[in-house]
Amino acid sequence: MNKFKRIGVLTSGGDAPGMNAAVRAIVRAGHEHGLEVYGILEGYKGLIEGNMIEFKSPLDVSNIINESGTMLYSARCDEFRDEKYRKQALAVAREKGLDGIVAIGGDGTFMGATLLAKLGMPIVGVPATIDNDMAATDYTIGYDSALTMNMEFIDMLRSTCESHARCNVVEVMGRHAGYLAVNTAIATGAVGVAIPEIEFDEERVINTIIEKRKIGKRGFIVVVSEGLPGYGAELAKKIEARTGVESRFACPAHAQRGFVPTLLDRVTASQMGARAVEELIAGNSDIVVVKRKGIVKTANIARAFAVDNMFKGKITDEELAELSPEDLAWSKTRCEELREELKGLYDLVYKIK
Ligand code: F6P
Repeated sequence: MNKFKRIGVLTSGGDAPGMNAAVRAIVRAGHEHGLEVYGILEGYKGLIEGNMIEFKSPLDVSNIINESGTMLYSARCDEFRDEKYRKQALAVAREKGLDGIVAIGGDGTFMGATLLAKLGMPIVGVPATIDNDMAATDYTIGYDSALTMNMEFIDMLRSTCESHARCNVVEVMGRHAGYLAVNTAIATGAVGVAIPEIEFDEERVINTIIEKRKIGKRGFIVVVSEGLPGYGAELAKKIEARTGVESRFACPAHAQRGFVPTLLDRVTASQMGARAVEELIAGNSDIVVVKRKGIVKTANIARAFAVDNMFKGKITDEELAELSPEDLAWSKTRCEELREELKGLYDLVYKIK
């Protein structure tokens, strides 16, 4: 007999296009399995406060697959770092009869998830952030929509750049990760990109603009990651001063989170949401659903954090000690592959500038 009767779903951290598609998949898959499904409003804050709605009918999630944002609302909940509030959340979850929770979000969401799982609440994570900054998964929900938004934004800038013979330096999101920036740069034919992971050769970009202006190029795009705070605006001024090309700074900001979810985000969110429900029913917890080489699978949250921290060069001795020889070898290979992938994309911007 199915141990799970009632599950909750929450979205937490920065919203990402496709979160609604994941919520829909969780509700629909949950109902298919005969479960009652509750939506927890405003992430962990709503869990602490017991702020929930019941999805009584599959129709309650009709017409949201195509909507950005999250119908469950989101919040960043600092209180959840405090065990007192986590225990309160656990008590509320039990009082509401929740047998398990699906938490949709980024690394902050999974930190909360693993701590709650350790208190005894079965919980499965679904990665959704426009940053695509989780080493355990090739893909996080929202990334493709944010990239497409950036591409359309810069396509619009391009025409005015061309008319006025200007350069536009565009700052894109991604927190500390440069993936959004490199792919945006490739897709928009930028002459340069600056990201936190790789040392930026400012002279190369300035010289490229000088040389291309000499052969008649009018408009230029340079993409800078927000992981280099304030650098985009500074670079626009430097380019103007050094090249004589009038330069402007632009930033799509939070509009990057508001694009209509693309096909990839809707499909991935649907796959991951349904899988999360199946994992809970199978009795699994403290894991995150991931997608690697097109295959949806799961990873233990602690292992996911370890490989992530290894990639970011901040893995602790404790985390290293907890990895089995197989996990250690896998994590090292994974980090090498990710570095190679990022470097390859970065170099491509300059090869085809
Ligand atoms: O993690 C998603 C993200 O949009 C990052 O790219 C960005 O750094 C951050 O969230 C912005 O956060 P906030 O919504 O709190 O301004």
